[in-house]
Amino acid sequence: MKGSEIIQNINQLRRDKNAIILAHYYQDSEIQDIADFVGDSLALAQWAAKTNADIIVLCGVHFMGETAKILSPEKRVFIPDFKAGCSLADSCPADKFAKFVESYPNHTVISYVNTTAAVKALTDIVVTSTNAKQVVDSLPKDEKIIFGPDKNLGDYINKLTGRNMLLWDGVCHVHAQFSLEKILALKKDYPEALILAHPECPKYLLEVADHIGSTSSILKFATTSTKKQFIVATEAGILHQMQKENPSKLFIPAPPEDSTCACNECFYMKMNTLEKLYLCLKNETPEIFVEEEIRIKAVKPIERMLEISARYGL
Ligand code: 13P
Ligand code: SF4
Repeated sequence: MKGSEIIQNINQLRRDKNAIILAHYYQDSEIQDIADFVGDSLALAQWAAKTNADIIVLCGVHFMGETAKILSPEKRVFIPDFKAGCSLADSCPADKFAKFVESYPNHTVISYVNTTAAVKALTDIVVTSTNAKQVVDSLPKDEKIIFGPDKNLGDYINKLTGRNMLLWDGVCHVHAQFSLEKILALKKDYPEALILAHPECPKYLLEVADHIGSTSSILKFATTSTKKQFIVATEAGILHQMQKENPSKLFIPAPPEDSTCACNECFYMKMNTLEKLYLCLKNETPEIFVEEEIRIKAVKPIERMLEISARYGL
């Protein structure tokens, strides 16, 4: 089937089935362009919680589909490729995280949204990179906190808030492998360029960044900045919206350490294709299910996150 035919069929199916297509910024540009909404992890959760659609197709990774299902259990939630996982979520198995939590009693447990439903069920408040600072700030100064699973984000939030949260030792394979050396070489070639980095990047990279923020924050910064050139240290899918919103600006993807490719992509995110999106809408599979016992526990920390975010206008 040709691309234009696939697009036509997707449009027909979503109308017939009252389906909404939500896409993360790291998806292929053709998926971003056909989606009803493109956003960061927080915005996708907010959309999933409020949509009137009967079906949500979450073009992102598995934990994003789970979060949508946890928030909207009466809806059917699909992701185009069931194998689209997340190295960060994988770095935090629920049984090991439960033991970690048990060994530090009287701690509030904060988990990044990039976790399985089972880890969220062990959590007091979920965060995304957009609201992690505000969530931590909302807790009393002397509160003992466990933060997992991203140690780079945790370390960055510790620095921003003056806390000493206990960190789980996990990283995202994409953000952990940017090459500082290659980024600094690019900066020499483009001395006017600002370095924009996601807080999942290691500390040595954040130290040279001109702006640190979630995908939506990086996009907003680039759009409102008077500067014209940017080196972007997050998954390269975000460049599509950056370029779309700022056609006259130059966006240079930050290169990874050990690759011949100039940009850094999340192979899980890229498992989703336009064709798989079409098949998923047509065949109504693969579907996301969350055990009700886990869902009831996991929904509380996600709702707490949404409440705090709303308080801060996020
Ligand atoms: P945000 O969408 O919150 O910026 O997170 C990026 C990410 O790694 C999603 O997997
Ligand atoms: Fe997970 Fe990293 Fe891919 Fe995001 S970019 S889905 S954190 S592996």
